[in-house]
Amino acid sequence: MDVYTLPDLRNWAAVTASESPPIRLSVFGDPVAHSRSPQMHNPALRAAGIPAAYARIRILPDDLPEALRLLPERDFIGTNITIPHKAAALPLMDDVDPQARRAGGVNTVVIEGRKLLGFSTDGPGLVRAIRADFGFDLRDLRVLILGAGGGAGRAIAVQCAIEGSARLVLVNRTFERAQALAAELAPDFRETRVTGPLMRLEAIPWTDAALARQLPHIDLVINATPLGMDSPELRRLSPIPASLLRPNHLIYDTVYTSGRTPLLLAAEEAGARAANGLSMLLHQGALSFELWFSRPAPLEIMRAALLKS
Ligand SMILES: NC(=O)c1ccc[n+]([C@@H]2O[C@H](COP(=O)([O-])OP(=O)(O)OC[C@H]3O[C@@H](n4cnc5c(N)ncnc54)[C@H](OP(=O)(O)O)[C@@H]3O)[C@@H](O)[C@H]2O)c1
Repeated sequence: MDVYTLPDLRNWAAVTASESPPIRLSVFGDPVAHSRSPQMHNPALRAAGIPAAYARIRILPDDLPEALRLLPERDFIGTNITIPHKAAALPLMDDVDPQARRAGGVNTVVIEGRKLLGFSTDGPGLVRAIRADFGFDLRDLRVLILGAGGGAGRAIAVQCAIEGSARLVLVNRTFERAQALAAELAPDFRETRVTGPLMRLEAIPWTDAALARQLPHIDLVINATPLGMDSPELRRLSPIPASLLRPNHLIYDTVYTSGRTPLLLAAEEAGARAANGLSMLLHQGALSFELWFSRPAPLEIMRAALLKS
């Protein structure tokens, strides 16, 4: 079946009787049909010789508590959590990793006995993606995040704080959300790391003038908005025009629904290095695999499977 539901989970033994190997991992989301996680995890499970399969389960927001509580009874190893459940899952865990608590959401659940343990691999996945795509560590970079008010933007900003990034500039359509996040992260950015005319941590309004003032003092620009996603109204929109980018910028688009997003095209026009969100998806998935099985993930198999999907 392509997508399971809560009624299926309630009646799991009968509904999945013909599944071999048994489904013991999943991704919860709403919608979830677009998730590429099964295409990445099932080949990894096969390659590692683990007799378990990974499936999509569409869970409506009100049903999340029941769905999570059913997992230990259904002999699940764990689950991923995606839009819109990451924050709502946090208080439903028996124990939460401190990094996930700071990120404000859970994207990976590990089941230990009857307990649900919550983790967030989005931020650590981005660290690995930036290292793999650009050869830099997040802590050495001056970072500007577009969409710092959302779940992914927040997870990335918190990761920059944990890593001690050289600078962090938060940009968001709803400015107050970027300001609130900057206030929360301020204690992590007290120490001076770079000299220059601008503050080490700032929230700025989303205007061309404010961006133009910041960008000469930025190494890495990250898009954490859905602009550029594969929907009729978003897919042509770049969050930032090519005219504001410079060849020395590193551009990372968390959007991965199309290979060359509008932001990647803008980066190309500006002569800047750029990568799309496929590597973040890959590395957050590999980190989930490592949490579930306490062993390295078969990264190249997962990468090849993702590219094929
Ligand atoms: N590559 C990966 O592994 C990975 C992982 C997670 C997420 N992502 C990507 O990250 C993006 C955001 O996901 P999310 O879960 O963080 O979503 P979210 O929680 O709904 O946040 C959306 C963010 O984008 C902003 N935004 C939404 N529409 C906008 C528009 N038309 N113009 C400007 N800003 C807009 C929102 O600003 P307001 O605060 O003003 O609403 C908010 O900051 C998606 O594209 C998703 O695919 C990728």
